[in-house]
Amino acid sequence: MSEQATSEQTTASTEQAPQSIVNRRQPYPEGFLATISQGWAERPEQLPPLREQAPFAAARRAAVSAAFPGKRLVIPAGPLKQRSNDTDYPFRVHSAFAHLTGWATESEPDSVLVFEPRGDAHDVTLHFRERADRTTSEFYSDATVGEFWIGPRPALPGVAGELGIATAHIDSFVSTDDDLVVDEDDELTRFVSELRLTKDEYEVAQMRLAVKVTSDGFDDIIRELPRIIEHPRGERLVEGVFHQRARSDGNWEGYDTIAASGPHACFLHWTRNDGAVLPGDLILIDAGAEVDSLYTADITRTLPVSGTFTPIQRRIYETVREAADAAFAVAKPGVRFRAVHEAAMEVIARRTAEWGLLPVTAQEALDADRGGQHRRYMVHGTSHHLGLDVHDCAQARREMYYDGTLEPGMVFTIEPGLYFQIDDVTVPEEYRGIGVRIEDDILMTEEGPVNLSADIPRTADEVEAWMARLRG
Ligand code: GLY
Ligand code: MN
Ligand code: MN
Repeated sequence: MSEQATSEQTTASTEQAPQSIVNRRQPYPEGFLATISQGWAERPEQLPPLREQAPFAAARRAAVSAAFPGKRLVIPAGPLKQRSNDTDYPFRVHSAFAHLTGWATESEPDSVLVFEPRGDAHDVTLHFRERADRTTSEFYSDATVGEFWIGPRPALPGVAGELGIATAHIDSFVSTDDDLVVDEDDELTRFVSELRLTKDEYEVAQMRLAVKVTSDGFDDIIRELPRIIEHPRGERLVEGVFHQRARSDGNWEGYDTIAASGPHACFLHWTRNDGAVLPGDLILIDAGAEVDSLYTADITRTLPVSGTFTPIQRRIYETVREAADAAFAVAKPGVRFRAVHEAAMEVIARRTAEWGLLPVTAQEALDADRGGQHRRYMVHGTSHHLGLDVHDCAQARREMYYDGTLEPGMVFTIEPGLYFQIDDVTVPEEYRGIGVRIEDDILMTEEGPVNLSADIPRTADEVEAWMARLRG
């Protein structure tokens, strides 16, 4: 494929067009220009129905409006990002924009949601680049936004009808020096991030869906293990099998899949995924499908490639599970978020001390100022909020996040691990090269925590039975 220049560009401004287009442009002959705008059927007038997420997004906008009376607020969707030359990354809209509009996968790059103050309230308008009329050259010649190139694009009335928001063309948006803009103004950025700390009913349903697709992706990986083991880059196949499921049943992955086999499991964000998957090793798979609404799961399972754990692998695995269970047991409404991490770390300290890996006692290791020796084997946190972003609510204040309290509606991970690097001479040889993480997605309710990913086997016995069942 090659982009076509407009007739004006072809005749007048060859040297101004990007080099990537100039070198391969073809002029449009008169016959094409005379006929291309004609012969198209009328588009249906019928407007789409209001989407189920619209009332939830409206309530969020009302909260934002009430918090910033008299201020003009701008929430940008964000631009396309260049990958290389004239190719861009797939567009992923800003999460605050998706949250406040309910417009997710289909969002248009460079759109803005504007809160225009009116008295103590706001008029809210979604500005975006509406599709071009078929009489324009944009329709047939613009490879970035032309419908001939990228398929049907939205019109103002259709989006207004689906989202329940007034819409206007992006050309009518004029920024002012007094605007508060998300990612530019700290207070607004923080507010819209903290607004996502508790999820509404629609969001919880989307999180359940994301977990379900992710669970199916893990099943697919186990079924494909015989093929994966045969391939010199088996980790890539793991990534690819999960990607196929995520793309088929959702929008994308919420983050790059970690397919970390053998000693790679000890690299916490191993996304290179270019290693072999060898029988006898463990493989740590950290993956999450992002569904069409852009909510993502974030789940880790660590599997014995051959189907059964060795005694040392099982010991480490079951200790990580013990830490996860201890974290789950303390998670209750009103409890501090940090208490979840502390409960997991208490188990990690106790067990690593018992195994003789620490130069101090477990109690000394847990001392806030002088301890921490056990953290060599688990340097990361145990929990983070989860939702539209894998690390959701990242701009929330510490007192609302790590030092805040758990409330019904919060969705967060519990993900302890133990990682013994291949060259860590502080541990006996049999531990080296083993990395385990178990990560579940938790919904807090009035009655206590619900493990949304509980149906994905967790205990060492369950994992072995799961693998035996799916591999036949
Ligand atoms: N997948 C990244 C994380 O677990 O936080
Ligand atoms: Mn996580
Ligand atoms: Mn994860």
